[in-house]
Amino acid sequence: MTALLEVEDLRVAYGKIEAVKGISFTVDAGEVVTLIGTNGAGKTTTLRTLSGLLRPVGGQIRFDGRSLKKVPAHQIVSLGLAHSPEGRHIFPRMTIEDNLRLGAFLRNDKAGIEQDIQRAYDLFPILGERRKQAAGTLSGGEQQMLAMGRALMSRPKLLMLDEPSMGLSPIMMQKIMSTIAELKSQGTTILLVEQNAQAALSLADHGHVMEVGNIVLSGSGQDLLHDESVRKAYLGED
Ligand SMILES: Nc1ncnc2c1ncn2[C@@H]1O[C@H](COP(=O)(O)OP(=O)(O)OP(=O)(O)O)[C@@H](O)[C@H]1O
Ligand SMILES: [Mg+2]
Repeated sequence: MTALLEVEDLRVAYGKIEAVKGISFTVDAGEVVTLIGTNGAGKTTTLRTLSGLLRPVGGQIRFDGRSLKKVPAHQIVSLGLAHSPEGRHIFPRMTIEDNLRLGAFLRNDKAGIEQDIQRAYDLFPILGERRKQAAGTLSGGEQQMLAMGRALMSRPKLLMLDEPSMGLSPIMMQKIMSTIAELKSQGTTILLVEQNAQAALSLADHGHVMEVGNIVLSGSGQDLLHDESVRKAYLGED
């Protein structure tokens, strides 16, 4: 079986500064794969490149059997790759429901869109309760739910989440992580970037540790969770 996403020797630079220095990894259908690592490791740069927002200076990206190298960002979404960005980027003055609809901007199957809006409300009931309110009135955690719901509105084959737990209270973080576990159990394929290594590795099939633009360690979520160097560097143990 070939992987849903294959990244090979990917290099990305900002001007002369190489932020991603030749990384390779794959994501199989149905898997949760996580990229962990400290600030500035190149995680966000990697996701933005997969989305077509940045162009690589080298390497290959194959998604669902085709090269993404020359495919523009909006077409990447319609091929089935959705991105819930770092910082969420919801539209605060628009209603919650309109924010969700934006995630379906490339679709014209009206009935399917309504179905998926309902599915987002089933997943996150608070969004349904407040559907007519401005999205800016949501708490940080609720905005994260909206960003995830919006990304799901394109019915992606692969959902990329950039730091969904950032800045959230422990309870809200748990809620977001359990939703990711629920999506996984429904068969959603997820590429998860997280600074909360414990939470991410606990639910990931595979993980990769990034440091200054390189993948320095890879393994199953469980193996990395028990790896001594990971425990020291990322799980706050000495
Ligand atoms: N627009 C930009 N212009 C120049 N350099 C950038 C830009 N965006 C990111 N960088 C640099 O690229 C490197 C990788 O950044 P990136 O945001 O991908 O890291 P990250 O792993 O997502 O970090 P964090 O955990 O803090 O979100 C960093 O050194 C960063 O300063
Ligand atoms: Mg980042």
